[in-house]
Amino acid sequence: MKKEKILVTGGTGYIGSHTVVELQNNGYEVIIVDNLSNSSLEVLDGIASITGKKPDFEQIDCCDMSAMERIFNQYSDIKAIIHFAASKAVGESVEKPLMYYRNNLVSLLNILELMSKYNCPNLVFSSSCTVYGQPDKLPVTEDAPVKAATSPYGNTKQIAEEIIRDAIHADKNLKSIALRYFNPVGAHPSAAIGELPNGIPNNLIPFVTQTAIGIRSRLRVFGSDYNTPDGSAIRDYIYVSDLAKAHVIAVERLLENRNRKGLEFFNLGTGRGLSVLEVLNEFEKATGVKVEREIVGRREGDIEKVWADPSWANSELGWKAETSVSAMLQTAWTWEKALKNKK
Ligand code: UFG
Repeated sequence: MKKEKILVTGGTGYIGSHTVVELQNNGYEVIIVDNLSNSSLEVLDGIASITGKKPDFEQIDCCDMSAMERIFNQYSDIKAIIHFAASKAVGESVEKPLMYYRNNLVSLLNILELMSKYNCPNLVFSSSCTVYGQPDKLPVTEDAPVKAATSPYGNTKQIAEEIIRDAIHADKNLKSIALRYFNPVGAHPSAAIGELPNGIPNNLIPFVTQTAIGIRSRLRVFGSDYNTPDGSAIRDYIYVSDLAKAHVIAVERLLENRNRKGLEFFNLGTGRGLSVLEVLNEFEKATGVKVEREIVGRREGDIEKVWADPSWANSELGWKAETSVSAMLQTAWTWEKALKNKK
């Protein structure tokens, strides 16, 4: 049976592409809208090689209202939107705040306006654990206070959640699920899609794999004096395909009218915190490859420790992160080696 059409903005990006795979594997028809600012057309081939189907693709910037409206006219039967398209580099957002506010918020405003206008009420929104800042209580639950953002990027996610809340308040037809991601890592087991960092990676895992393969001479461990057992910062690393699967469940929940309020929030994490040094240790154990490292000072804007209480997502969505740290790091390594072979 043919399932509904889902519009995926940012669908050639890292989390977006893994989600498109899961949607197609569950029989959904996917239309990707992406401006390719941080991804490439080859991702579509990767998706096709896994699922046997190339999704429809439109190279469009979500900030371009008339182009987006054309999509809603052309595909009149879009049943839900998953909105990934956004700029996501924390450091860059400090340098270029206006670009971040424009990209991340104008795109959302356009989508919400079109959802109302074209009676397409279901939105899954990519949010982030950054909205919690440094939580007072760990593991952090969805009702923890949203603290002042430490970067324009983080602020766009907080403001976006507020914009969605207000839009839903005004248009009772609209419904949304905001998924608050912890730290997504790894690649599809086929190594046909994965993370494609632009230039020098900011994030830990691509930097680790690039160091392991010899592109970088050593990893800098940012901070050794945090109030954690080994002094390095703690995060909740979640396998990207586990994260992707939660989007399929969220879409289903919206389509079947099972969300209880207009706007719901879910933490997508494993519930386990790992320090940077523990991640390096796990990577070396999982792959047998040594990662040269240097302990340096803290990175500005970093929080000390955060990990999820995912029990609300576990019970309400019936979703659970299943992949072990070792397995997710192995997929990241397989992907890095596959990238090398492509060059
Ligand atoms: N880290 C290092 N060395 C590096 C890179 C990172 O020690 O070279 C440390 C960081 O200091 C941090 C941990 O590894 O303690 C994880 O850092 P990431 O940059 O991978 O991820 P963040 O926790 O900083 O998360 C940020 C945002 C998220 C966003 C994510 C991905 O806070 O909202 O980046 O863009 F989703």
